[in-house]
Amino acid sequence: MQASYSLATRPAWVPRGASATRRRSPPSTAAVPRRPPPSSAVAAAAPPVLKHRRTTHSMPPEKVEVFRSLEDWASQNVLPLLKPVDQCWQPHDFVPDSSLPTDEFTDRVAQLRERTAELPDEYFVVLVGDMITEDALPTYQTMINTLDGVRDETGASQCPWAAWTRAWTAEENRHGDLLRTYLYLSGRVDMLMIERTVQYLIGAGMDPGTENNPYLGFVYTSFQERATFVSHGNTARLAKAGGDPVLARICGTIAADERRHENAYAKIVEKLLEVDTTSAMVAIADMMRKKITMPAHLMHDGRDPKLFEHFSAVAQRLGVYTADDYADILEFLIGRWGLEKLEGMTVEGRRAQDFVCGLAPRIRRLQERADERARMMAPQSARFSWIFNKEIKL
Ligand SMILES: [Fe+2]
Ligand SMILES: [Fe+2]
Repeated sequence: MQASYSLATRPAWVPRGASATRRRSPPSTAAVPRRPPPSSAVAAAAPPVLKHRRTTHSMPPEKVEVFRSLEDWASQNVLPLLKPVDQCWQPHDFVPDSSLPTDEFTDRVAQLRERTAELPDEYFVVLVGDMITEDALPTYQTMINTLDGVRDETGASQCPWAAWTRAWTAEENRHGDLLRTYLYLSGRVDMLMIERTVQYLIGAGMDPGTENNPYLGFVYTSFQERATFVSHGNTARLAKAGGDPVLARICGTIAADERRHENAYAKIVEKLLEVDTTSAMVAIADMMRKKITMPAHLMHDGRDPKLFEHFSAVAQRLGVYTADDYADILEFLIGRWGLEKLEGMTVEGRRAQDFVCGLAPRIRRLQERADERARMMAPQSARFSWIFNKEIKL
């Protein structure tokens, strides 16, 4: 979460009541700064470091039984939230049809480029960051398979938890593919630097602090799926306002998938709260104390050692994902899980409940103070390799 910028409701480049009016001509190749050759000093920029202590297997072993006993429930309540493959959209539905004759295909690409020409570079910084986050999918499947009691023990396990994880991954896999293809065809971004960032990120992994503990893991995924729903929903809104209805539909379609996934993970936590109230409540508090780390927090392009921070600052300024969204998601989940009304918990559970239920206003107060401090500081900017090293206001 970036906490230094005020909450943008309408970026400067989106006119009030914006329509798809053309505001800029497409960027000429001559106007695009050439990528500087990698210097050893720049290439040596250190990747981000891990922040959590390495606690592992924090769920007491006997609790594996909780997940075993919920297998039938998961088959009946979680697996139906997946969509059959033949009813799913595919990336190819949204990009120029590759089977078209060459001239027609080229026309479609030209139309795509004309549409994206309206969108400013800062929008692409955020869209690229979102795409890179999606593209690091191997890391997320790995992360879920670190969780005791629900991991895929064979790679093709018939256990419903494992079946869900594989099919969820297969659904998610379309998100990065589609955004990547669209960005590639747009010609607006430096694909080589994006691809390097993805390679660095998958190599770095992630550190969400879930400790092989599915109570913690499913709290994390509930929060995170909603965060991606919010973020893709906002890039859809901005694409529409900036003159690209197809990109708006793409981001909106991905957002709808995230919503369905959020529903599945939130249902699992809801069930854990029903069958093991104190442990589930304590897990929610634990994750919120650690703060929910964004999945791509270890992103690196070999150049900017603060790449994730800079990307997050632009996302915050454009209103794509903000500190206010973080507090909103928390409040939403508190309501959905009925945390304020939970009863019958131990002292530890009640303490966790008090902490979580009072947290959102505290986050908002801290954000207001951070905004205040940011207003006193000189405006900052950063160069992003993803958009040919152009400088963007943070
Ligand atoms: Fe996704
Ligand atoms: Fe998702």
